Amino acid sequence: MSWLHCIECGERYSSNDPRYTCECGGLLEVRYEEVPSRADFSGPPGVWRYSSVLPLETADSVTLHEGGTPLYDADKLSDEIGVEIHVKHEGMNPTGSFKDRGMTVGVSKAIELGIERVACASTGNTSAALAAYGAAADIPAVVLLPQGKVAMGKVAQALMHGAQLIELDGNFDECLRIVRDLAEEGFFYVLNSINPYRLEGQKTIAFEVLEQMNWEVPDRVVLPIGNAGNISAIYKGFREFYHAGIIDEMPMMTGVQAEGASPLVGALQKGGKLKPFESPETKATAIRIGDPVNAPKAREAISETDGTATSVTDEELMDAQVKLAQREGIGVEPASATSVAGVKKLLNDGVIDSTETVVCVTTGHLLKDPDAALEASGDTIKTDATHEAVRQALD
Ligand SMILES: Cc1ncc(COP(=O)(O)O)c(C=O)c1O
Ligand SMILES: [Zn+2]
Repeated sequence: MSWLHCIECGERYSSNDPRYTCECGGLLEVRYEEVPSRADFSGPPGVWRYSSVLPLETADSVTLHEGGTPLYDADKLSDEIGVEIHVKHEGMNPTGSFKDRGMTVGVSKAIELGIERVACASTGNTSAALAAYGAAADIPAVVLLPQGKVAMGKVAQALMHGAQLIELDGNFDECLRIVRDLAEEGFFYVLNSINPYRLEGQKTIAFEVLEQMNWEVPDRVVLPIGNAGNISAIYKGFREFYHAGIIDEMPMMTGVQAEGASPLVGALQKGGKLKPFESPETKATAIRIGDPVNAPKAREAISETDGTATSVTDEELMDAQVKLAQREGIGVEPASATSVAGVKKLLNDGVIDSTETVVCVTTGHLLKDPDAALEASGDTIKTDATHEAVRQALD
């Protein structure tokens, strides 16, 4: 049994109420009667292994077998950077990003609620995931995108899976505002991370990391922050296991933003209200977000775990993307590489201790953004089609 709980005023709403926020304006989160227990987790690796702590009551799940992603020991990168790094590669999900975890739960819940059309604003990955899960559920999907600012692979996915794509002459934050307004008017159900059910799917990243580490809690979990949903979701996953007594400590939740889109870092440093970036800019287009809607949840995640947030430059994140690809064989998109770039920076700043065990969550696959990959990794060698020319090139 689950319900929706306002994180600001504590008001409670029925789980049959398709709402995103409280009357007071506060964000909602899903709460459960059941206390999670390791004995309840069964079935193959993946999101639905944890169905006892997911909010579906009557409907069948709409699944593409999401989750169950690898956790790599990044030994060479660890040696080079100077701290033990494990990489949870969420790019290995069905559509190539962690958003699939959120969408399997979000779209399933939408079907349970009797919703007839779903929508999102997106920097790309949400649109690909919504389109695919919309197709699997046979429900129409609408996507609002910031024109010219979404990586090619993601647009291709969303179109191929049959979503209706509308490109706006504006940024992501404007797209999200319009989607939320139109949802109020009854046009569709929003599946951005403002939707509390999306985050329930994403919290399973925490559960999987724990199982993959034989229930040893990592000292720190580091991941990119855009709209700040994923850091909030993963924190919630750890917190539920902590409150159930399954684990006895929490990892320090650590978020990384791109310098040109780092309002949360500014708010944490200065304290007080978050000041949105009016014109966020970064090559990591997935996190080109100036006004993260889940900031209140993310601030709790960070402060309650003694975590932190930092920002990295585009050069730093591109360098980390190349290192992950070339030292470890792990292909990630630019936004995902902020995690590793952030670890390097925080270690240099003395915030991360070299004895820590760190899990970096790499949120999306290299192939999502081929243009960025080419820009970061150099050019091909072109020669005549002769034995001699290739020999010379090899020298
Ligand atoms: C690859 C990638 N990483 C990170 C993020 C940021 O996640 P969140 O918006 O939950 O902070 C996104 C969001 O679009 C993404 O696509
Ligand atoms: Zn409230």
